[in-house]
Formats: sequence, C-alpha cells, structure tokens
Amino acid sequence: NRRRETEEEMDQGRLKEEEIAELLSGIENVRLNEEETAVIIVDQTQLPGKKEFLELGDAKALYDAIFELKVRGAPAIGICAAYGIYVLARKIKADSGEAFYKKFKEDAEYLNSSRPTAVNLSWALKRMESVVEAHISSLPKEILALLREECKLIQAEDAAMCKAISEYGLSLLKDGDGILTHCNAGPLATSKYGTALGPLFLGKERGVNFHVFSDETRPLLQGARLTSYELDQGGIDVTLICDNMASIVMKSGKVQACLVGCDRIAANGDAANKIGTSGVAILAKYYGIPFYVLGPSSTIDFSCKTGEDIVIEERNPEEIKCKFYEKPMALPSVKCYNPAFDVTDHSLITAIITERGILRAPFTESLKAAFPERAEG
Ligand code: MRU
Repeated sequence: NRRRETEEEMDQGRLKEEEIAELLSGIENVRLNEEETAVIIVDQTQLPGKKEFLELGDAKALYDAIFELKVRGAPAIGICAAYGIYVLARKIKADSGEAFYKKFKEDAEYLNSSRPTAVNLSWALKRMESVVEAHISSLPKEILALLREECKLIQAEDAAMCKAISEYGLSLLKDGDGILTHCNAGPLATSKYGTALGPLFLGKERGVNFHVFSDETRPLLQGARLTSYELDQGGIDVTLICDNMASIVMKSGKVQACLVGCDRIAANGDAANKIGTSGVAILAKYYGIPFYVLGPSSTIDFSCKTGEDIVIEERNPEEIKCKFYEKPMALPSVKCYNPAFDVTDHSLITAIITERGILRAPFTESLKAAFPERAEG
C-alpha cells in the first residue's frame, strides 16, 4: 500500500522527484515564491479573521516571523527555516565552497536562535548545513542546487510522515469518539494533515467522524484561533472550550482520547508541548482517558536524555495581558510569568505515535528500536 511504499522509500533515504511534487501539491502555508527569492507563509497571527500571505525575503524577516509566531508549530518552523536558509544562501556572494559555507553558517545560526524549544528548527537547519559540508569542494551554484532539493525534500517528507502518523492515530480511534486536543497540531503547524489533528482529517476523508473539544490554549489562543478554525473548515465537529474546562468535559464522559502534538521528545519519552499540555495529561490519567502524543521523528531529540534537558522558551510576559486583546487584561503593574511550553512526563503518556508506528512504554526502548539510526547518531 501507498503508506508502506512511502515509508520504505523514506527508509532508503530519498523520495522520488514525482513523489515530492505530489506530496507538496496544494500546500500553501509554507512555500517558496516563484522566483525563489522569498518564503511565502500564511500569517498565522491574523487567522481566523484574515488570510494574509507574507513574503519573507531576508534573514530578519524570517527570524521575526518565527519569533512572532507568524509561522509556528514545530514542523512548520523547521520547514520555513529550511526554505529560508535556501533563500538566504542564494544571496551569498562567494566563489568557493568554503567562503559560501562561512556565510551560510552565520545565517543558519541566526535563524536557529529565533526559538529554542521545537527541535525541528535546529534539525532542519542542521540537515541543510550537512548538505553544504558534504559538498564543500563544489562550486556554490552546485551546492545551491542540492540545497534546493533538500528543502523540498524536508517538506515532502513531513507530509509523508504526517500521513503515516494519521494512519496510525486513526487506528486507535473509533467512529463517534470524543477527542480533546490542546494547542494546534494541524496542517498549519506542519505541511499536510498535521500530527494530532491528522487522524481526525483522515477519518473525515473516510467517513469516520469525531467530536473534538479544542482547548483555547492561553495565552496565545492557538486552539481558539487555529485548531477550531482548521477543524471547522474541514467539516469536523468542534467545540471550543477554555483550558480550565477540560476537567469537567473529561468527567462528563465525552472524551475517549486526548491527542496532542509535541515540540521535542526526549530519549525517555518525556514530551515538550504547548504550555498546559502536561495538565491535560494529568487530568487524562485521573479520568482513565488515553493520552496520545503524535509527532514525526524530526521532533525526537535523542541528545536530551529526559525532559529536564529541554530548554523551555519563556516569552514576553505582556503576551498574557495584551496580545490579541483590545485592552490589557490586567494592570500594567501586575507581574506575569509566561513559559511557552511544558514537559509531559513519560509516565502520563499512553503512546507516542510516530511515522514508524505506535510506541509504548518503556519509551527509552521503543524509541530506540523504532529509530536506531537516530538513537546511535
Ligand atoms: O508556540 P507554538 O504555537 O509554536 O506551539 C506549538 C505547539 O505546541 C504544537 O503543539 C507543536 O509544535 C506540535 S505542531 C505539529
């Protein structure tokens, strides 16, 4: 079947050109412009009110778009950075591979400093950098051609991984299930389908229906602005709830599974995701509801032994009071604390769903067995 073929090709390391084109068709949230002088993104901070496309043509515009969450979601950040570094590489004036590499590295380091938690950012940039390293004795124009191929491949592989994750996720659910999700891990955050929302979109295509409860996801409201928008537009039954309503909804028996995405999975299965995720996991455990973390291998970081090693982004406290509100929600003198992510302990996770299957505890072993080449590297 198609999924198995895709997985096998990915295992062999490369997708065919026609397959890349097929996987990339219809993706509009992150792509190159025709001249390949800029990355085009949908400005996610404007949704759902306005669908505005931005052209990011220089390093500062790329950095700012990632930092300000105009493009967000771990895989989408990685894809944007990969396209972005290619766009910046095209502007490098160098007559040798070495000179080219020096400037490339500077640009990559700058983009990489835009956000710390989602490992997909550094993963994608490192992947692009290794292309340059491996061809350092080639001419810059030859290296550019390879970089172009690589960034397209990164996005196409993400689409294939999301599809595989969606298949595995769907196999755990049944028609009519109530699902609770937190933050946004849909197509906007990835390439196609999404991770946590992928099984729901795939189910819809196949006539399997779900009722979804979308946590609004304070402080930046990715659940309200993006998840409920994506599901509603996709014809999936969605009910928006405030984050502090998850307990009553779970208690009422309306939730059969929690599905969330992730920004970095440590080697022991601890998983960083949007702030509030670990609270959802604790509630799910209390109510006996399975809690699934869905993510591609680009989100696994074997260099982090546990969640303790994951850097948690702390954002401007003013986002809690002001962002997306007409008037500040608290007095200027009031202090705020604004960690953007938290780590869900592996003991609270029923399964981690990746493109290579449904992994269960003990995660140290199951992750290593599913991705031996990554675990060793
Ligand atoms: O700060 P954000 O909006 O980038 O946080 C995103 C999340 O926490 C997502 O759940 C995660 O990146 C997974 S996206 C498939």
